[in-house]
Amino acid sequence: MTADMDWHLARALLQWQVELGATEAIGDTPVNRLIPTPSDAQPTAPVPATVAPAAAPLPAPLVTVDPVAEARRLAAAAADLPALAAALAGFPHCELRRGARNCVFADGQAQARVMIIGEAPGSQEDRIGKPFVGPAGQLLDRIFAAIGLARDHPDPARALYITNPIPWRPPGNREPAPDELAMMRPFLERHIVLAQPEVLVLVGNTACQAILGERGITRLRGRWHDWQGLPVLPTFHPSNLFRRPENKREVWADMLTLQARLRENPAP
Ligand code: URA
Repeated sequence: MTADMDWHLARALLQWQVELGATEAIGDTPVNRLIPTPSDAQPTAPVPATVAPAAAPLPAPLVTVDPVAEARRLAAAAADLPALAAALAGFPHCELRRGARNCVFADGQAQARVMIIGEAPGSQEDRIGKPFVGPAGQLLDRIFAAIGLARDHPDPARALYITNPIPWRPPGNREPAPDELAMMRPFLERHIVLAQPEVLVLVGNTACQAILGERGITRLRGRWHDWQGLPVLPTFHPSNLFRRPENKREVWADMLTLQARLRENPAP
C-alpha cells in the first residue's frame, strides 16, 4: 500500500479484484498481460500504416495461424519427451499460459506401465511446476499406493507417469473449455505415443473428454475403453472424492480392475 492510499481504499480495490475472479496474488509487480510478448509474435505480413492509393499494389494477405494445426505440427516434430516439453512450453496460442507461472508437463517415471491423465494444474501445481502435488494429488498417491503403484517407484513395473490435458492453470481453477482441450490435444496425444504406457487411467471428465471425446464419468468408469489400441480405464477424479466420499468404493473397484489387468499381462 502506498503512502497516499488509505486502508479503506486498498481494501476496496482488493475486494474489486476478488469480485473479478482473482484468487491469488502471484507477484508484487503488476503485469499487463494484454501487451503482446515476443513469443506472441505471429509470422504475419507487415500491415501498411495508411490506406494505399488505388493504383498501388495490393498488400500481401495476412497470414492467420490455425492454432490446432500448429499444435499438430509442433507435437509431431517432437522426437522425444524433452523436445515435447520444450514445444509445449513455447506454444504461444493458448491464452491460459498468460495467467500461469509454470508450464506443468509431467511427473513420475516415463517408463511406467501406467500413465494417468488428470485435468489441469491447480494453484500448488502451478507454483511448483509438477502435476498433482496439492490435496487431490496426495489422495491420488494414496489411491494408487493401495495397489502398490507410486510415481517415484524405482521399478517401472510399479511406477506411475502423470500428466494433464492442459499444462497451464486455468483461472480460478475452472474446468478447461472444449476449445482449449481441442487446441492442446495434439500435445497430449503425442505425449502418450512417446511415453508408450501399457495402460491409460483417465481421472475425471476432462480426461475422458480429451481422450475418449465424451464426458459422463459415472457411466464410463470401471470399464475398459480403447484409444488407438491402448487399454483405457476411466475413474473418478480424486477431487470428486472430497465432495462425494461415497464414490471411494467405485474407485477401489477400479483399482482392482487395473491391478488384475497388470497381473494378467505381466511386464515383459
Ligand atoms: N488436478 C488435476 O487434474 N491435475 C493436477 O495436476 C492437479 C489437480
